[in-house]
Amino acid sequence: MSKRSLQIAAGVVWVLVVAQLIRPDRTNPTTDISHTIQAHAGVKREFVAILDRSCGDCHSNATVWPWYTHVAPFSWLMTYAVSEGRKAVNFSEWARYSPQQQRKVLADSCQDVTSGKMPGLYSVLQPETKLSPRDIDTICAAGRQAEVPAARISQ
Ligand code: HEC
Repeated sequence: MSKRSLQIAAGVVWVLVVAQLIRPDRTNPTTDISHTIQAHAGVKREFVAILDRSCGDCHSNATVWPWYTHVAPFSWLMTYAVSEGRKAVNFSEWARYSPQQQRKVLADSCQDVTSGKMPGLYSVLQPETKLSPRDIDTICAAGRQAEVPAARISQ
């Protein structure tokens, strides 16, 4: 290794060490159990088990923070994904959504898991979040089931 590349390597190590001093907040908000999608009447247990396993880290108040989320720069990426993810959809705050919003979230979820956008690259880090074709069917079926009452009202 040349002197120049040693200097660069030392610089990278130094930046990573200093980066650890910036420690983003990883606390989970408290949850009113009665507000969660799990507590919702008519929601299938198999469906919420998939949400817990594959979506809950970014779309619920019950994020599990694996060891690498304590190491910068992953800690920054993960806290950003969790805060943006919860803003977009929070299955722990399901009761706050109107029936119309709930249907939209479920329809969007079906679309996103079918295209592979969700859970996306996270499945490389956390292989247990990978969805099987059956899991995708279950998510899409939950969306179709939620549409039934609306269809009845409009008739
Ligand atoms: C690693 C974090 C992460 C995981 C895991 C994750 N999401 Fe997301 N999700 C996000 C972020 C960040 C956003 C907001 C930005 C965006 O839309 O890309 C989002 C947005 C969404 C949206 C709303 C916007 C849109 O694109 O339609 C839906 C619906 C959604 N996710 C569903 C899911 C479902 C269902 C799962 C589980 C199968 C899941 N997500 C897993 C991070 C995540």
